[in-house]
Amino acid sequence: MKIVSNIARAAAAAAGAIPRSQTLAGLDLLATAVVMVDGDGRIAFANAAAENMLESSLKALSRQRLCDLFANPAELDHVIGQARAHKFSDLRQELMLERVGREPLFVHAIASALDDPMDAVLLELRETVQQMKLDREERLLDQSQVNKELIRNLAHEIKNPLGGIRGAAQLLEMELPPLHLQQLREYTQVIIKEADRLQTLVDRLLAPHRRPHIVGDVNIHEVLERVRSLMLAEFPAGLAIVRDYDASLPEFRGDKEQLIQTVLNIAHNAAQALAERIDAGDAQIVFKTRVARQVTLAKVRYNLALDLHIIDNGPGIPPQIRDRIFYPLVSGREGGSGLGLTLAQTFVHQHMGVIECESRPGYTDFRILLPLP
Ligand SMILES: Nc1ncnc2c1ncn2[C@@H]1O[C@H](COP(=O)(O)OP(=O)(O)OP(=O)(O)O)[C@@H](O)[C@H]1O
Ligand SMILES: [Mg+2]
Repeated sequence: MKIVSNIARAAAAAAGAIPRSQTLAGLDLLATAVVMVDGDGRIAFANAAAENMLESSLKALSRQRLCDLFANPAELDHVIGQARAHKFSDLRQELMLERVGREPLFVHAIASALDDPMDAVLLELRETVQQMKLDREERLLDQSQVNKELIRNLAHEIKNPLGGIRGAAQLLEMELPPLHLQQLREYTQVIIKEADRLQTLVDRLLAPHRRPHIVGDVNIHEVLERVRSLMLAEFPAGLAIVRDYDASLPEFRGDKEQLIQTVLNIAHNAAQALAERIDAGDAQIVFKTRVARQVTLAKVRYNLALDLHIIDNGPGIPPQIRDRIFYPLVSGREGGSGLGLTLAQTFVHQHMGVIECESRPGYTDFRILLPLP
């Protein structure tokens, strides 16, 4: 006996209909990718989550064979064939779908044969890695909020006596006996210099909370162009900054200066990591913008989001700090204070977005997702 789920019923109602009808509008709200294939395995329908997962539009996908999208179609073909042949109510399987030039997709697939003349099969695909990532992101978000609060309080506690320490060292310096002035001044100078260094550090730690969040209409490409010109002024030779923009992205409400600072911090890190390639003349940073649909950011679901990538061809993030790069004071760089990415993350969170990173030697991708209107 065949049980047809709600999803299957809605999709069945629209069997063969490529344009999104009223019946299918609901499917676009699902986080699960839903694809319906006809008797020949050609795509008859894909919801918004499926378009997102397959990185293509329904229009481009329609009538293509689903299995042709993957380099290893046998397993998927088998699942669809099984569902059709045995008319299972649903057939569940974990699949690894290889894509040309992209990382593979790990999905939990549910195939249901539909009771219609087209012999259609409905596939629900949920990215397993994605789900694990979402759970992990939620945990990290909670944790990072607790950490930030702790650091802020600590920074305040350090800041208060610093002025006093510096002032006292200056006074002491004025009272030093002339006979030993040179020798003793070295000590007071150490106190003053270290107090100044700490002052800069706590100022940076407290900076995102001090200045008000100034909100206006932001065009992300203006932000990127500004960062690009600042970077090119600093690194005039050996570094190419490639633009890969989706010009159709709408403006959104945000704090432009904060977003410039965010991208600049990430691009700066990339350029620092790229030092050797800059000397060799083949360093590259790519600014890539796209629209993402149906995304969950910090536990809230949005129909549309800005999907910004800052990708470099440097050596990658040192493995020993990879899991902690967004934590304050974590640096893999001589002389680094480890605050650039903490600030970037704070600014992104203030825009209700998320920031994540994927890195291996030769490829480091910082991805920022921000909700769009
Ligand atoms: N694109 C990248 N490639 C390789 N390593 C990176 C990249 N981006 C960040 N890192 C590593 O992450 C560390 C943390 O970066 P972050 O910007 O938070 O601090 P920092 O650059 O060390 O100091 P600051 O930015 O405060 O001056 C860096 O020290 C570097 O080791
Ligand atoms: Mg930095």
